[in-house]
This record gives sequence, C-alpha cells and structure tokens, in this order.
Amino acid sequence: MNDFKSPAWDANLYLKFADSRMRPALDLMGRLDPANAVRPGHAIYDLGCGAGNISRVLAERFPQAPVIGIDSSEDMLAKARSQSADPRISFSKGDLTRFEPTLPPSILYSNAAYQWVEGHIDYFPGLLKLLPSGGQLAIQMPRNHEAPSHALMRTAAEAGRWRDKIAKVKGIRTVHDPARYFDALKPLCSDLEIWETIYQQTLTGKDPVAQYTAGTGLRPYMQVLDEGERAGFYDAYCKLLAEAYPTRPDGITLFPFRRLFIVARRA
Ligand SMILES: C[S@@+](CC[C@H](N)C(=O)[O-])C[C@H]1O[C@@H](n2cnc3c(N)ncnc32)[C@H](O)[C@@H]1O
Repeated sequence: MNDFKSPAWDANLYLKFADSRMRPALDLMGRLDPANAVRPGHAIYDLGCGAGNISRVLAERFPQAPVIGIDSSEDMLAKARSQSADPRISFSKGDLTRFEPTLPPSILYSNAAYQWVEGHIDYFPGLLKLLPSGGQLAIQMPRNHEAPSHALMRTAAEAGRWRDKIAKVKGIRTVHDPARYFDALKPLCSDLEIWETIYQQTLTGKDPVAQYTAGTGLRPYMQVLDEGERAGFYDAYCKLLAEAYPTRPDGITLFPFRRLFIVARRA
C-alpha cells in the first residue's frame, strides 16, 4: 500500500526551528485528557518521534507511563537517544505504515509526521482500534501545502533545467479537509475533536522561509539535485519567497502556517 522511502533526515537542521515547531506539539498535548490517561502496563507512543523532544515532554506530562518513540530515521533516533537519560523513555526504529506496539498503548501521539506517509488517513482507524476503550489518539499535521511556502517549491521546480529530475519527487502528501478525518474516525470514537490553527511564525535572517522549509518539505527536492542544480533551484525558490513573504522594516518575516489537529477517544 505504501511506497514510502524515507529520505535522510538531518536532525540538526530540523531542530533549528525547534521552538516554533514545539508550540503546535504542546497545543496538541494540551488537549489530551490526563485523567486515567494510561492503564497499568500500557505505554504512550510518540509516532514519528524525530529527535525525541516531544517524547521527553510526554514523559513529564504523564509520569506514570513508559514513552516509546518510533521513527524510521537513524539520524533522528541517534539524536533522540543522545538527548535522553530517562529510563522510562525508549526509542525504536520502525515504519509508521507497519506499526505494531510492543506494549499495549493507551495514548498514540504523533506530531508532524503522518503528512509524510502516503494514504495516511487509511491508517488512522487502525490506530484507534489498537487503543482500549477511553484510549486517546492525538495527531497534528501541517496543512500548508497550498500556501506559497510549498506551492512555490513546485513553481521553482518547473522553472529550470532541474525540472525533469524534480518531477519524479514525492514530497509531503496532501493533508485533507478536516471533514474527511471526521468521517473516517467518528464511527470508532466516543469523543472527536478536530481543529485548525494558523500560527503567525516570526522569522528573521536571510531567506528565512527557505531556511525553515529546508529542514522538512524542501528536503526531498534538494536531495535529488547535484550541487549546481541545487544552488540554482534554491536561489529561484528564495526569490519567489521574498515576494510572497516580504521582510518587514523591523527585520521580521511573518510566516503564517496552517496546521490540522485531531484528538480522538476510542469508544
Ligand atoms: C517533521 S519530523 C517530526 C518529528 C517530531 N515528531 C517533532 O515534532 O519534532 C517527521 C518525522 O517523521 C519521521 N517519519 C516520516 N515518515 C515515517 C515513516 N513512514 N515511519 C516512521 N517515521 C517516519 C521522520 O523520520 C521524521 O523524524
């Protein structure tokens, strides 16, 4: 069903914007109900845990339970392991399309990962079914693919000699309309909350939006190009971004970013 081949992740590049990426992760966590959240012998999973920043916050928020981070990137897992000494937190290599919990889960949490999985919505009912009655599924995905930050990647991709190489690249998958997730999950839930937030991110420095996307959505494009093409493509993308996201006189670039949140409780 899934033909995902994980491109190499660079943990340090991704963590450059750790603060603004952490905010939605905490907003998602804030909607989890802490009352009787984890059954004895059960665990909390952080699916697509990356460098484990959020796994550590989950462990603080739910001190009674083991937290298991799952990710397919060796680079991210190495960073995660190097940053955590808490024996309650562990990290395992795994593919979200074939997720099988080793301990029964009471909470399945995922921040900014499933947008990389083709057909991700088809996996969500299966995740809910792994939970006991009252167990919670919490998922956040960026839904910014129609914004200039992402649309202009495709414009720049089509505007140069790199066009054919980039045409074959599969980037971030479309994150659907909220109603589609509601329809897919509602029959299995006692409570279901879905919402969107547009964060007004404040960036500074040279080509700040490209610097931001370089750690995520831009990666698959850059990875297929040789050095010269990469510089040309990146330059074309930055020029388009400068018009779409002008730098203000105070040096700040506002970068609005839409994200979709799902918090579901198993019936
Ligand atoms: C944007 S990062 C988010 C990391 C972390 N959740 C956070 O919020 O900081 C996306 C992560 O999803 C992981 N990922 C993407 N597709 C995956 C898959 N099919 N299986 C496992 N991990 C995957 C990547 O390796 C990457 O670490």
